[in-house]
Amino acid sequence: MTADGYLFLTDEHKMIRQAARDFAEKEIAPVAAEYDESGEFPVETIKKMGEMGFMGIEVPEEYGGAGMDTLAYVLALEEICKADAAHGTIMSVNNSLFCFGILKFGTEQQKQKYLRDVASGQAVGAYALTEPMSGSDAGTMRSRAVREGDHYVINGRKSWVTSAPVADYVLLFTMTAPEKQHRGITAFIIETDRPGFVRGKKEPKLGIRASATSEIVFEDYRVPVENRLGDEGEGFKIAMSVLDAGRIGISAQGLGIAEAAYEASLSYATEREAFGQKIGEFQGVSFKLADMKTRIEAARLLTYHAALLKQRARETGERYTLEASMAKLFTSETAMFCAHAAVQIHGGMGYSKELPVERYFRDAKITEIYEGTSEIQRVVIARLETRLK
Ligand code: CAA
Repeated sequence: MTADGYLFLTDEHKMIRQAARDFAEKEIAPVAAEYDESGEFPVETIKKMGEMGFMGIEVPEEYGGAGMDTLAYVLALEEICKADAAHGTIMSVNNSLFCFGILKFGTEQQKQKYLRDVASGQAVGAYALTEPMSGSDAGTMRSRAVREGDHYVINGRKSWVTSAPVADYVLLFTMTAPEKQHRGITAFIIETDRPGFVRGKKEPKLGIRASATSEIVFEDYRVPVENRLGDEGEGFKIAMSVLDAGRIGISAQGLGIAEAAYEASLSYATEREAFGQKIGEFQGVSFKLADMKTRIEAARLLTYHAALLKQRARETGERYTLEASMAKLFTSETAMFCAHAAVQIHGGMGYSKELPVERYFRDAKITEIYEGTSEIQRVVIARLETRLK
């Protein structure tokens, strides 16, 4: 059964998925290898994605977005990632970390001021939580914001910030009261064209190479109080709650990569011959394909289910932390499983840059690391399910 078989897809869902598929095949797939090689940020395609409404799918139209639901976002992201996961990373951070954070926690004034450009792809949004000495233990950050009248002065360093080399705005999490530990973290909306915002070294990455990633350094950066997102001390909960949404995006990304790896393998297995027959006729290859397909369909259900719960949360306010973590964990491991199998099925050609399969393999790995490693997802799931702490 393909995704078309799912009863809960409306005509609108099918329409956005088809639009994303057509765009990805026409505009992204032909340039993906080139951007992967150069590591250049794909400015033009991202702008076009903005024009298509893909950079703010869940943002209401009044704030410049497409005004669609979470499943629409996931379906579109999956298609973009099938063509190129790096474009998908930029889209995902823009939609489910930056825009969602402001939409959920911002004031009306903040929404009016910051959503329109980012949701329409005219500007790029980023999310800065990690620091050189604070990764999975996000509550231990060392950067500081000190209040001085109607401003805060920020000093410190953030690392592994997706889109930081080009971002116009950054959702920043930093300590305003270090003695309170995670309860002393506060969120801010940062405009990157102000003094004291310094873009640091760009990371030379294994995969998703066109999604520029770098450090950010704050040197006496002054942010007005009206740019604080939520109250002082609410930053950690905002960061975690936004990551719940982000993890559904990474799950959709893993799904797209897994599908691309599977489809490439299926077609290679029905063309390539060895020992006088199609290699797909060998049990060793056909079993790999069977496992890939089964895991993909399970991953799809987890991803779509988490998306539906996030959508429902708009009315109920219920958390979907568990389902987002399970979806991200299973789908990212499925992406890695499928990309690994795809390289093996392709043999030498899977190891060559002549085909995109080696790129799927390199891109898949990040889904097990960012927005919470697989180990962190297991911590979240175990704690929520067993109440062990
Ligand atoms: N939603 C709302 N609140 C939440 C929450 C959630 N999902 N998860 C935790 N909280 C709240 C808790 O209820 C608790 O509240 P109280 O203070 O009232 O008790 C508080 O936050 C602290 O929770 P924990 O005790 O569970 O916190 P912890 O220190 O043990 O950390 C963790 C939990 C799961 C390990 C968390 O730190 C975590 O997810 N770490 C991984 C961070 C991560 O994903 N980093 C990736 C950064 S983004 C990125 O990858 C870059 C990019 O550009 C894409």
